[in-house]
Amino acid sequence: MKNYKHIKVTPISTAIGAEISKIDISMDLPEPVISEIRHALLEHLVIFFRDQDLSDPERHRIFTRYFGQLFIHPNFNMGQKDPEMVYLTRKPGDKAVVGETWHADTTMMKAPPMAAILYALEAPKYGGDTLFSNQYLAFESLSVGMKQMLNGLKAIHNDARVAGPKAGFNSKRTTQVREDDGWTLTENAHPVVRIHPETKRKSLFINSTYVQNIKGMTVEESAAILNYLYEHATKPEFSCRFRWRTGSVAFWDNRCVQHLAINDSNNATRRMQRTQLLGNDVL
Ligand code: SIN
Repeated sequence: MKNYKHIKVTPISTAIGAEISKIDISMDLPEPVISEIRHALLEHLVIFFRDQDLSDPERHRIFTRYFGQLFIHPNFNMGQKDPEMVYLTRKPGDKAVVGETWHADTTMMKAPPMAAILYALEAPKYGGDTLFSNQYLAFESLSVGMKQMLNGLKAIHNDARVAGPKAGFNSKRTTQVREDDGWTLTENAHPVVRIHPETKRKSLFINSTYVQNIKGMTVEESAAILNYLYEHATKPEFSCRFRWRTGSVAFWDNRCVQHLAINDSNNATRRMQRTQLLGNDVL
């Protein structure tokens, strides 16, 4: 682990995740501090901050911009004033939450976001945790034969299961997504094994929320391979679990991480504010 000078970095599991302390991210940050945060993100894949105040969306935007450009999510863009801020709200009685199946974010895009920064405006006393899984380890722990077979394959990702008139989420949850007739499907093919543009490490890049099939194979043929990989990629030993408190922040590298919001907050309210960072084409 790197020797950090400006922040304290405490891993929360062997595979993934570290808590960053001795820092107030609502303040203007100098370059050496930003550089260490970026390093911690690359080293631990998801980093967490406690007791922060990003409730002013402008402070959340400023912190996000230290690491790149803001991404606008097409399915949450309904003409609001600040389309780059997405509010993920669970209210008592909701039957569904955003992100309740394992996924990397928004992978139907040609250039999926490189990262997301999620801030808890209001966390339940218990429940509503988020799981994260290390997709480098998922790839590296496969057999040589499986790695050879996957190298060179592409998967078709689209957003048919999460948005559009047939998705059916808006009747089950407070957070609304585009399900109007004017919505159009976004679909792109990405390598099943990608190379991280900064670390140059290989990771699995498939997820059961967006992937439909392997390019050149039927849905049924693909399912045999994909279902194995989905289960493998989210094994407990590749994962960590984060318990939210109001004021907590999770910042994950969407290029090598899958995550899942546990839909168990029962009758509690959970209000989250999210930004995403523009990414590059998947190589
Ligand atoms: C997401 O998938 O971005 C939401 C995660 C969460 O609410 O815990």
